[in-house]
Amino acid sequence: MIYLDNAATTPMLNEVLDEMMPYMKDNYGNPSSIHKLGRQANNALQLARKRISTLINTTGEIVFASGATEANNLALKGLTNSMKNKGNHVITSSIEHDAILEPCKELERNGLDVTYLPVDKYGMIELDELESAIKEETILISIMFANNEVGTIQPIKEIAEIAHKHDIVFHTDAVQVVGKIAVDVQALGIDMITLSAHKMYGPKGVGVLCINNDLKIEPILHGGGQEDQIRSGTQNVAGIVGMGKAAELSIQHMDEYTNHVTKLRDHLIDSTSSEIRFSKLNGHPTQRLPSNAHFTFLGVNGEDLIIKLDENGIEASTGSACSIKKQKASHVLMAMGFNYEEITGSLRLTLGIQNTIDEIELTVSKLGIIVNELREISPYKYKYT
Ligand SMILES: Cc1ncc(COP(=O)(O)O)c(C=O)c1O
Repeated sequence: MIYLDNAATTPMLNEVLDEMMPYMKDNYGNPSSIHKLGRQANNALQLARKRISTLINTTGEIVFASGATEANNLALKGLTNSMKNKGNHVITSSIEHDAILEPCKELERNGLDVTYLPVDKYGMIELDELESAIKEETILISIMFANNEVGTIQPIKEIAEIAHKHDIVFHTDAVQVVGKIAVDVQALGIDMITLSAHKMYGPKGVGVLCINNDLKIEPILHGGGQEDQIRSGTQNVAGIVGMGKAAELSIQHMDEYTNHVTKLRDHLIDSTSSEIRFSKLNGHPTQRLPSNAHFTFLGVNGEDLIIKLDENGIEASTGSACSIKKQKASHVLMAMGFNYEEITGSLRLTLGIQNTIDEIELTVSKLGIIVNELREISPYKYKYT
């Protein structure tokens, strides 16, 4: 099997699992207990916090949650609740993951005002448009670091500068970025950042919201007051240990990870573009994740392509796993101005550190054959032969 769906989830590294195992068996203490087993579990949480803080270079508070979906909900609802006396306007982009868009809709249902910024054909927001959208009442800007479908990386430092010039909090969903390229929260001026363990070779069901120490966040879950009163609920100790280990491995191997995946991506893009006719790379040509290649193959249905690739042992995707579940057309490609045919023919191939150049070559050759076969039976055959 060739796994090219690393934006949906990454395989867990052996070292990560090895470090988690004792916390699923013998070290089963509750980190809030004051006895030895409890202290052991608490120490493990503190080590994970330290490793994650080092990975993203922050002195802010690391709050563990059940994943990035919860962390994003906490960022949006927690911050707007705590600042409701200051204002009621939030700015985000039209290409965010549903884990931002859906809580934004909930904010709107609760009477807040949300602006969804448009993007250009590469999936990039326009800084002038961001600045013009700011109002007296704006309290939060939440723009994703890089898009999960097309891989476009936003100008994060510039967005943070605009936010701070107007005394607005800046949050970014960096799920697709952290562990793939170096992220320096302090240098970039990020106030709140969301991470997910299972997108960086760690376990599923663990996420982080890192919050600048000056900010106050209202909890969205009420209970025992764990995670410094911000996120109640007994922590997923083994999962958090795994995320901490994944962070440590990322710190140690960051250049190696980035260089390897970039080399694979460039080879994939170059050979697909030269060998498969009527193919088009989507997303930004340079400001893109090292792990992302997103194409349109005109005259082909992307879902047929996924099925045929799967039959040939290649795991790929048309876009976000969540959008597929909801059976809706990609809101990201629509926001980028794609027409029906371009959206239908899209394929996302996302790379990980475990992939090899041989896998990429095999994928491109199989892809070429499958695209030709599908075009043969397409009603648009006359256009693409
Ligand atoms: C950009 C982005 N944000 C949030 C999420 C949700 O992450 P989780 O599965 O940890 O809830 C995803 C997962 O696909 C994502 O790609």
